Amino acid sequence: MLTQPSYRSLRNPSVAIVGATGAVGVELVKCLEARGFPASSLRLLASVRSAGRQIPYRGEAVLVDVLNADSFVGVDLVFFAADADTSKIYAPLAVTAGAVVIDNSSAFRMDLDCPLVTPEVNLETLVGHRGIIANPNCVAILACVAIAPLQRRFGLRRLQIATYQAASGAGQPAMEELAASTRAHLAGEAYPPQVLRHPYAFNLFSHDAEVDPQTGYNGEELKVIAETRRILGSFNLPIGVTCVRVPVLRAHSMALSLELDAPVAPAAITEVLAEAPGVRVVDDRDANHFPMPVEAQGQGDVLVGRIRRDLGDPSGRSVALFLAGDQLLKGAALNAVQIAEQLLIA
Ligand code: A2P
Repeated sequence: MLTQPSYRSLRNPSVAIVGATGAVGVELVKCLEARGFPASSLRLLASVRSAGRQIPYRGEAVLVDVLNADSFVGVDLVFFAADADTSKIYAPLAVTAGAVVIDNSSAFRMDLDCPLVTPEVNLETLVGHRGIIANPNCVAILACVAIAPLQRRFGLRRLQIATYQAASGAGQPAMEELAASTRAHLAGEAYPPQVLRHPYAFNLFSHDAEVDPQTGYNGEELKVIAETRRILGSFNLPIGVTCVRVPVLRAHSMALSLELDAPVAPAAITEVLAEAPGVRVVDDRDANHFPMPVEAQGQGDVLVGRIRRDLGDPSGRSVALFLAGDQLLKGAALNAVQIAEQLLIA
């Protein structure tokens, strides 16, 4: 728990979820229930497309309401899990109505009035928030959980990341497209892409975010760079990143190279990671068993392995890692609920 009371501490908050029918929203409902979050009530909100839908919570079916400007009356805590435009319009309304907002979109992540929080890494930034707390990009969260303890212990000079990102990051419709296009492919049927731009079954492609013509980096890569720097508190950290969408349903993987202040033996890296909160070391060289999305999905820890010297850096200062983490849990819903838990009055 926070040692200092924040802008607003909560005891048994009435909770709302905007985007409750989406990939992250559904996981938020499950996380609140599974972790015994002491919500006094739960209001589920989505677009008019979902009006009348019901979602199970604590043994009951909760009716989904259509989001509108009056949705936050009497609500203490709102999770936003829709798109950035919806957050930009409605999050300030929720704050005006007296609620604290935890926003999963990119809308406020670079707003210095809004802490960008990964609890294992920079919980201290939560103190003194002004109503809106940003939940970071999924790649940034998963990477920082593994990087931060190494940065703290050994110092970090440079970071290189290549991602293997699941369908879930593009929402429920993308997950459905992966399943449907795979079924069609196996049946020998044509499947024109509807949600993503390229064929998804048995394929991979550069992340679907728009490419910045100046730098050649896509929007996801630019978010990862900016947010990772902010979470790690290293605003000039040199970071290179390539983001790729792979045909996996819900856990992201990534290969990382960290240039530290001095050469460090891989065993010392493993030792630090083994003690790090939110990390589980999966590094069995004999069995060739390393982090995999099928083992990361459905659980909260970030799996980290392939811990070795990066032979691509002749200085010997760089260490290579591979990790996998559930994009919908630690990369989104679980991180948001962990933030909310820190707002509770002890
Ligand atoms: P709906 O299901 O009614 O479209 P995903 O990221 O999986 O695509 O989910 C996005 C979530 O955000 C869904 O719950 C979706 O609701 C919700 N959403 C999208 N646009 C709006 C909007 N304008 N108002 C309220 N909810 C929205």
